[in-house]
Amino acid sequence: MAVFELDWLGGAAERAFAPHRGDVDGLPWGTLDWRRFTPAELDQARMAWTTSAHQEWCAAAGFAALLTALLRAGAPVDLVGMAGRFVADEMVHTELNARMAAEVGGGVALQHDPTQLCPPIDPALSPLEAALELAVRVSCVGETFSLPVLAGTRNVATEPIVKAVMARIVADEGPHGRLGWLVLDWALPRLDARQRAWIGAVAADAVAALEPLWTEPAAPMPDATRHALGWMTPTEYRAVALDAVERRIRRPLEARGLCRSA
Ligand SMILES: [Fe+2]
Ligand SMILES: [Fe+2]
Repeated sequence: MAVFELDWLGGAAERAFAPHRGDVDGLPWGTLDWRRFTPAELDQARMAWTTSAHQEWCAAAGFAALLTALLRAGAPVDLVGMAGRFVADEMVHTELNARMAAEVGGGVALQHDPTQLCPPIDPALSPLEAALELAVRVSCVGETFSLPVLAGTRNVATEPIVKAVMARIVADEGPHGRLGWLVLDWALPRLDARQRAWIGAVAADAVAALEPLWTEPAAPMPDATRHALGWMTPTEYRAVALDAVERRIRRPLEARGLCRSA
């Protein structure tokens, strides 16, 4: 285990990354008056934004692994190519979340295992199966779920910096979820009945793993404070999450004969 820490090189690396970052520095940083909030609320916000930065870091690791798996599986050139910039997207999101943590008082010391950033893949799987499992877990489920949740947070955000950060992330995220479904549709005709049953079970397992996100109780907090610091209310979150799982994940899986709709 290690503390999750971020570094910035500057110079040539920063200049090469600049076209991808776009106007990150032009967002309304420094406009959130954190003296309006209690120390406990700010601690929760620091933890939440730090955790989000780590999740974006993990999303980058997931896409890096998926890209390698797609190359090993001989995936179509355009399918691999469309995902080539996703790691850079997630680095922008990591930066944005880390800067949001700074806006509310600074990041927290988050422990993580740098060798366990993305779903572990059984080495006995074929290259196609490995690519498929990563596509389903990282993109069809993980990224497809996070897009409407991020958009929901953007919609209720009352602070300009929170709204701007969420809007930037949402603008990047559409293709991140789309990739997995394209991989699935490319790979499905190549699978036998056993493999189709297996990938259906993988998808069901990944969907089930999301459930604590809307079933675990949230700490009490005024709705206006949630909307200011970057959260939906538990009721809003649950509605968005259940709709995302049903309409954006379960039904598309069911349409492909992979997962029973609940
Ligand atoms: Fe992201
Ligand atoms: Fe993403």
